Amino acid sequence: MKIEFVEKRVADLEADVEIIFVIDKRLDHRWVQDRELLERLGFKGEVEETCLLPERGRLYVGAKLDHDEIRIAAAKAVRTLKKKGYRSAKVGVYIENCPITNIKAFVEGALLGRYSFDRYRSKREEHSLKEIFIAHEEYSGKEFTAENARKSIGEAQKVAQTVNFVRELVNTPPNEIYPERLAQIAQEEAERYGLECQVLTEEELAREGMEAILAVGRASVHKPRVIHLTYRPDNPKAKVVFVGKGLTYDSGGLSLKPSDYMVTMKSDKSGACTALGVVIAAKRLGLPVEVHSFLGAAENMVGGDAYKPDDIIRAKNGKTIEVRNTDAEGRLVLADTLCYAQEKVPDLDYIVDIATLTGACVVGLGEYTIGVMGESEELKGKILDAARASGELAAQLPFNRYLPKLLESKQADISNISSSRYGGAITAALFLKEFIEEKNLKRWVHLDIAGPAYLEKEWGYNPYGATGAGLRLAVKWLQKEFLFSKKHP
Ligand code: BES
Ligand code: ZN
Ligand code: ZN
Repeated sequence: MKIEFVEKRVADLEADVEIIFVIDKRLDHRWVQDRELLERLGFKGEVEETCLLPERGRLYVGAKLDHDEIRIAAAKAVRTLKKKGYRSAKVGVYIENCPITNIKAFVEGALLGRYSFDRYRSKREEHSLKEIFIAHEEYSGKEFTAENARKSIGEAQKVAQTVNFVRELVNTPPNEIYPERLAQIAQEEAERYGLECQVLTEEELAREGMEAILAVGRASVHKPRVIHLTYRPDNPKAKVVFVGKGLTYDSGGLSLKPSDYMVTMKSDKSGACTALGVVIAAKRLGLPVEVHSFLGAAENMVGGDAYKPDDIIRAKNGKTIEVRNTDAEGRLVLADTLCYAQEKVPDLDYIVDIATLTGACVVGLGEYTIGVMGESEELKGKILDAARASGELAAQLPFNRYLPKLLESKQADISNISSSRYGGAITAALFLKEFIEEKNLKRWVHLDIAGPAYLEKEWGYNPYGATGAGLRLAVKWLQKEFLFSKKHP
């Protein structure tokens, strides 16, 4: 769908339908021209409430002047128009405090809300809406330049398109995407955008001493891969590493998941797909940071060759791990991938891992919120600020001196599960911490996206299925941290 800025007032624009936001239920605003009719129809202007007046060519949508509410309202508008046959729509600009924020929010909401995964449907419901025109008219008379508007639209498009790319990858079923395919796709994307891409095959993983990821993937006919993508701008202000959990399927392994819990586990590659999206977005936005994304890809299956509870395996950094549950496989894959990433980028400034790591995180924070864990209060704070500014939900879960004890093993350096039923999201993060080098401890942050990565019930501008969780947060953090700053540290 095209989104275009036109230097005209709304009334002077040609389009099939006009989208009008009713802010704070204020039907008395000047731009609400159909107040009487709307009232007769019982339209109150509640958030996400819509009213289409086809004979007048107007769609009213309840909204608030908050950037995430604008995203939600834009998504609602676009979805409402899905089966109505309109090809083009027009809209004015509503400023809260910054015109740019709201234009961006509108564009992101419209593009994110329009997305659906229908590649496998023989009978697709085509979305008729192909074009939205944004007018150079601010409803309360505030000024902004066309140049700024165009720039914001372009940026928002890049971000939203990348989120939709991540969603499409995550939604693609496990019979089509397995580690080798994910590596191929990463290579294709790298070629397309001019990124470096290196793929480690099974043999190379063995040579690197990455027994943990190999153990997890051993029972599958589709062998593990570690994929390393790099975006190198001139004079980067910093080096930032992203590490993503890429379980193209998580059956649980011998600690087999009950059937009800196994469905949707194609989404266990979400972290890796987001990490891939981040390096693409950084390149497309031309961010002044060197970005490395490492994707740990494996398929956790059962079979005669499967790794077992009781196995003791040695990770890349030499630490031995007692496997007590083969369904706690993400942390094993990440252990090796984190070690490899730190070895490859020895002078990194930040290292962020992203993973659908624990059901416990979903229990603790709910399905909408990303769990943020790490050793640096300052870094976690910045991630939470970026989340807020991006419209993603995030909350931090605290470490303490007692929790690490729960990971002690009697026979190896560490156990892959906690001895307690409680605090599972944090103990999983503490397990990862064992694979972070001392000098990187304050540079590291862990994002558990198990809740928001994949939905079985849509909310806001997120459709059923994959959401691309973590991408907007990560991009916003890179922008806030590096776009206007001097060289790091
Ligand atoms: N991929 C799952 C975590 C998950 C659960 C993601 C629900 C998305 C939705 C992970 O590999 C897993 O199975 N974790 C176990 C850990 C346990 C065995 C310590 C879990 O959370 O139950
Ligand atoms: Zn698992
Ligand atoms: Zn998993």
